[in-house]
Amino acid sequence: MKFHYICDRLPKAIIINKYCNMVSYKELGLVNTREMFAKAVKGGYAIPAFNFNNMEQLQAIIKACAETKSPVILQVSKGARNYANQTLLRYMAEGAVAYAKELGWKRPQIVLHLDHGDSYEVCKSCVQTGFSSVMIDGSALPYDENVALTKKVVRYAHRYGVTVEAELGVLAGVEDEVAAEESHYTKPEEVIDFVTKTGCDSLAISIGTSHGAYKFKPEQCTRDPKTGKLVPPPLAFDVLKQIEKKLPGFPIVLHGSSSVPQEYVDIINTHGGKLPDAVGIPEEQLRKAAKSAVCKINIDSDSRLAMTAAVRKVFVDKPGEFDPRKYLGPARDEMEKLYKHKIVNVLGSNGKAK
Ligand code: G3H
Ligand code: 13P
Ligand code: ZN
Repeated sequence: MKFHYICDRLPKAIIINKYCNMVSYKELGLVNTREMFAKAVKGGYAIPAFNFNNMEQLQAIIKACAETKSPVILQVSKGARNYANQTLLRYMAEGAVAYAKELGWKRPQIVLHLDHGDSYEVCKSCVQTGFSSVMIDGSALPYDENVALTKKVVRYAHRYGVTVEAELGVLAGVEDEVAAEESHYTKPEEVIDFVTKTGCDSLAISIGTSHGAYKFKPEQCTRDPKTGKLVPPPLAFDVLKQIEKKLPGFPIVLHGSSSVPQEYVDIINTHGGKLPDAVGIPEEQLRKAAKSAVCKINIDSDSRLAMTAAVRKVFVDKPGEFDPRKYLGPARDEMEKLYKHKIVNVLGSNGKAK
């Protein structure tokens, strides 16, 4: 306790991690987002930010990234910390660096990131235990409180070289237990003031994306007459453009960017599942965003759908199967395929971490 107090006040150069009970992300072979984002903004591509909660997801992410030589952000949400334990996930990320090297990826570029941190304390605990990046999500707070909280987290995290993502604007749907009925687009007129006052390294914005597999209500969409599937409305690229103009070259983040592949939805629905009218963000819109200042694209639901589709298929096709490796194995393969597809065909991050 006493040492934590002292550590918080010491300049970076004289912090002795051992006495402070701290693990630096650098010791784990991880990197922060600074250089990664600068290259992505310049190069017109986006870094994949994949959530993970278990070994199969992590294996699939690392295999896909090692094979395509893509930098990657491994995201840990509050739900993941509750499900799998923050310490265990941190050790898994450390293991992921070693696994990536074993797969022949000489210089893996892996970030361990806290997704939707909701307090200064949780961000601090992640910084102290080896995360290389944290998000402080004050988007549900009044503007001035969001600024104050973000600034406090930035001041602490930067002392240890950890980068900070902040959020302005509200996404519809559930954000780690913060539920919003309506989305509120980020106000371009606020972004310069927010970024200047807080010193954050990247900014998550709201331009029409949302979390989960139901991103739009049927009444917000049109229907494809041939397939009967919902066709979602376009993202607010005009708002993105205005933000880019206000903050030239500043890293922008898109949450809620799963595209909800209809082939997975169909497999789930024809194998005992029930996901009527699930709809996501069309990939061509994400491709367009990746070419702009959007340099981090968050994908979680698509991996859940890939996993669920593969598991349901095994259960229906092989009802006698009860070895978890026989259904989690195909699920892992399907996720790896999905991650590679996102990297190569949507975000364009392949070959950027050779
Ligand atoms: O922010 C949303 C992510 O998909 C995390 O979701 O809280 O259920 O893990 P979760
Ligand atoms: P999806 O639910 O669209 O995958 O979004 C994930 C996300 O934004 C995690 O923070
Ligand atoms: Zn999110």
